[in-house]
Amino acid sequence: MKRWLHEKLICPECASKENPLTLSVTRETGDDVLEGELTCVGCRRTYGIHEGVAVLLPERSMGLLSDDAGYNSRAMLSAYLWSHFAEFFNGTNATDAYRTWSSYFTETDGWALDIGCSVGRLSFELSRTHSRVVGMDTSLSFIKKARQLLTEKRLEFDLIVEGHLTERRSCDLDPGWHEDRVEFVVADAMALPFRPTLFSTATSVNVLEKVPHPRQHLANINHVLKDDNAMFVFSDPFSWDEAVSHPEVWMGGRTEGPFQGRGIDNIIRLMSEGGGTFHPPFEIVDQGDVNWKIRKTENLWEHITSQFVVGVRQQNRR
Ligand SMILES: C[S@@+](CC[C@H](N)C(=O)[O-])C[C@H]1O[C@@H](n2cnc3c(N)ncnc32)[C@H](O)[C@@H]1O
Repeated sequence: MKRWLHEKLICPECASKENPLTLSVTRETGDDVLEGELTCVGCRRTYGIHEGVAVLLPERSMGLLSDDAGYNSRAMLSAYLWSHFAEFFNGTNATDAYRTWSSYFTETDGWALDIGCSVGRLSFELSRTHSRVVGMDTSLSFIKKARQLLTEKRLEFDLIVEGHLTERRSCDLDPGWHEDRVEFVVADAMALPFRPTLFSTATSVNVLEKVPHPRQHLANINHVLKDDNAMFVFSDPFSWDEAVSHPEVWMGGRTEGPFQGRGIDNIIRLMSEGGGTFHPPFEIVDQGDVNWKIRKTENLWEHITSQFVVGVRQQNRR
């Protein structure tokens, strides 16, 4: 974990108290802490840094680390590395979805947060326009790989063809990215370990339907995003799943209640009306559909429509 991130962190366990973390280092190279520990000055809980990866999960999410299925599986790693980086090693079938989302990022000297960053493509894209970028995800497997990309500036992996059959894929990363400005940590969107109003830009891309409390996820973003000169890039397929979140907390796909109707309409209303989850409100600068693809095996592809909206908070004139 790069040292520049340390002073911006707070304890995810007692987040409302905004307790800072002290850093003890046992091994480092340059400004990169390879082995060490972060300790909350309030609750004294410790968060390990191993092989450069800081794990900033609240206690209730720690079980995710040992879950080898889902987003920690080898199948998901192959699928998401293809989805994020195939443009660089296989131009013909690659999805250009990440180029569409990142086309909205604008030049600023501020920080950016990529929530549910997976293997890091949008975080790397954010490094073109931001002075610092933090990519975070609950998947240790994704964050380890993203961090490897960061340090090696090169992608090498085994792409699943079928079952245990794989093919080696490799490519250099885009020379326009600034890997030194980027850090990846294991953290939970439900308990963000960052100081309030730290970020100029936040992204939540294909994450809302994956978290247990979608509205709390958005409220947490509001908390860490600046009040002015800020941008929120949101996108989601809105494929609500009862195995992930109770229908009572869905923000769309319902026939009654405050979030009846389509998810994208409800999110746009929430972003633009102010006084509620998002304060100050956003001016909506664009919205639309992105065709996104995930390649699971040579013969199994998911074609997904992700509905996006981009909101900005202009200069505060108060
Ligand atoms: C559908 S994938 C999208 C990944 C990436 N944003 C993209 O569009 O390629 C959802 C991602 O969110 C992560 N995720 C799920 N729940 C999370 C949580 N509570 N906090 C942080 N990340 C989470 C998953 O590990 C996974 O990487």
